[in-house]
Parts: sequence; structure tokens; C-alpha cells
Amino acid sequence: MRAYQILPGAGIDGLQSVDYPDRELGTGEVRVRVRAVSLNYRDLMVASGNYLVNVDESIIPCSDGAGEVLAVGPGVSRIQVGDRVAASFFPYWHDGPAAPDKVRHALGGDIDGMLAEEVILHEDALARIPAGMSFIDASTMPCAGVTAWNAIFESSNNIRPGDTVLLLGTGGVSVLGLQLAKAAGLQAIITSSSDDKLARARELGAAHTINYRTHPEWQEEVLRVTGGTGAHVVLEVGGQGTVNRSIASAAMGGSIAVIGGVSGFGGEVNPASLLASARRLVGIYVGSRTMLEKVMRFADGAGLQPVVDRVFPFEEAQAAYRYMESGAHFGKVVIAVGE
Ligand SMILES: NC(=O)c1ccc[n+]([C@@H]2O[C@H](COP(=O)([O-])OP(=O)(O)OC[C@H]3O[C@@H](n4cnc5c(N)ncnc54)[C@H](OP(=O)(O)O)[C@@H]3O)[C@@H](O)[C@H]2O)c1
Repeated sequence: MRAYQILPGAGIDGLQSVDYPDRELGTGEVRVRVRAVSLNYRDLMVASGNYLVNVDESIIPCSDGAGEVLAVGPGVSRIQVGDRVAASFFPYWHDGPAAPDKVRHALGGDIDGMLAEEVILHEDALARIPAGMSFIDASTMPCAGVTAWNAIFESSNNIRPGDTVLLLGTGGVSVLGLQLAKAAGLQAIITSSSDDKLARARELGAAHTINYRTHPEWQEEVLRVTGGTGAHVVLEVGGQGTVNRSIASAAMGGSIAVIGGVSGFGGEVNPASLLASARRLVGIYVGSRTMLEKVMRFADGAGLQPVVDRVFPFEEAQAAYRYMESGAHFGKVVIAVGE
């Protein structure tokens, strides 16, 4: 069986395809034939050695994969041979709020992930894919889909149809967030460095689009197009360069979901920017398997098809990483595994 391995910090050149040894299934374990893997900014961070955890051995990278169950080990009861499944980013966070024990390991971060022809996972780490959803679409859900779902529907302050969601940039989390928001009857505002990408966002239903290069004070535009109200939820993926503008863009009582740092981490937040407006700054750490089940069920029911920018063959995983790194993508970059 072929698998990619990478020593975190070895760079994209360090991503190498290897013959991976097979092993017997243990109690509760399931063998999955992987059919699609989607990339996240986090996979670039693992490659460059900038991810949160220190790992000094090669791992199979990537958290987000979907496939079909080939075999089940002793004691498996939730999952059957032939089931179509997606893996949960945190294999031990099944339900409820985050806790240290639940997020102690993350696929493709500190333990083996999904960029392989076959993987072995505990049955509790797997969510069934709705019948109408393709493997490629399901592979976009475990990190980007769950993160956007958690930020908008689980950790926000009681969001309701007609409320406004602000999305920063047109990467995987933001475009899926736009699609989820639109499907739920929310007004979406999205920013980008590219007018062409903003035109695509309007086709997807964005109510307002803002070029953050030509409008460096884009928070003023958010307030202008919302008649001074601001956004009820902000998916803050920018970090250092954007967090204070995200706070200034939020409505009274609104939530700023702190998700990422594509412009780096650091800087200062003035607590006064939160208190008089009763805004909430909420940290988001992907989400649980239950959230994965919910976002897939919602997307399937709404007929939502995640925007997949490009699909690369398994043999061209390095090229997929480089394309992701270029920032040319709109939505998700996927690697198809096998036929
Ligand atoms: N906390 C969590 O659980 C969690 C989960 C998922 C992701 N994340 C984090 O969220 C971030 C986004 O992840 P992703 O996978 O969606 O990344 P991605 O697909 O690589 O998207 C990155 C996009 O960010 C936009 N961008 C770059 N600089 C920006 C800036 N200064 N202001 C606004 N937008 C900017 C660009 O959009 P344009 O090309 O349109 O300008 C770029 O395409 C990363 O930092 C990632 O680590 C965190």
C-alpha cells in the first residue's frame, strides 16, 4: 500500500511516497480505502514546521479524507464493511465541548493522517457520509467544513436567518462558510485580494464583496454595507493583520470566531473594543465528530456542493501542496486517491 510521509518541517520537497507496511486490525479498528483527501492551510504549516505540535518522526500527513470501509476488526459495532466514511479531525473528540483529552491527537498533525491508499482508524473516529455526497465533497468537510460550521452555528451568539456573516479571504474555510451561510438564509459578506475571486463569490450568493487590498480599511465597508450594524459572526482567519478590523466589523453582541492566522499571529487586542459593544471573541479548534455528522447532513439536505478548485491525482501530491501554497485557489484543493 502506498502512503505519503513527511517529517514536519522538511518542506514540500520532504513529502515522499513510500511503501507502507500493512498490519492486522486491532479491537475496534477499521480499515478504510481512501478515495479523496482535501488540503488545508494547516498541511502547509506541518510541512514548514510551523504547526502547533512538535513531532520528530515522519507521519502520514493530512487530516481530511473520505473513503469506504474494507474491513472491520474485533468488537466493531458502529461501522460496517462497505460504509462510506469521513474521518474526524480529532479522532478522540466525539461529542460535547472541547476538552484536553478529546483534542490530544489530531490526524496528520502529531499522528498519522489520511494521505494514503488505506488507513486504519478506530470506528469512533469515523462519520458516515450521506448517500448523496461524493467522496471528494465529503473530503472537504472534516477540517474546513466543521470549522466553519462550529464558528457559525455552534459557537456564535444564537445566529438567526437574516443575520450577517463576514468571511475573510476565499480559502477553504471561508468559501465553505459562505456556502453554509447562504444555505442557512444568512447574509454573507466576503473579502478577497482578487476581484475575480470576488466575482465568483457573488455567483455563490455573497450579498457584499470587498477587496481588502483596494480597501485596506475594509471594516469601514462592512459597517457601511450593513447600515452601521456590523456582522453578527466574523470568521477571523487572518490573525495579526486582521483581528482588530474583524472586531471593529462585528455587530453589538456579535461573535468573532478566532480561527486562523494567514497573516501571522501576535499583536494586541484592546479589551475595550469588546466590552462596550458586548462582542465575544471565541476560539475555534475545528470541532467534534458530531459536528462533522451535522455539517455533512446539512450540506446534503441543502444540496450544497463544496467548491473544489482543483483535483490532483495521488501521484501529484507535491504539486497539490505547491498549488495550495501559491494562494491561487478559490475554495478547496483535493487529491483523488485511486480510481
Ligand atoms: N482554528 C481552527 O480550528 C482552524 C481550522 C481550519 C483552518 N484554520 C486556519 O484558518 C486559516 C485559513 O485556513 P484555510 O485552510 O481556509 O486556508 P486557505 O484555503 O489556504 O486560504 C487562505 C486564504 O486566506 C486569504 N488571505 C491571505 N491573507 C489574508 C489577509 N491578510 N486578509 C484576509 N484574507 C487573507 C487568501 O484569500 P484571497 O486569495 O481571496 O485573498 C487565501 O487564499 C489558516 O490560518 C488555518 O490555519 C484554523
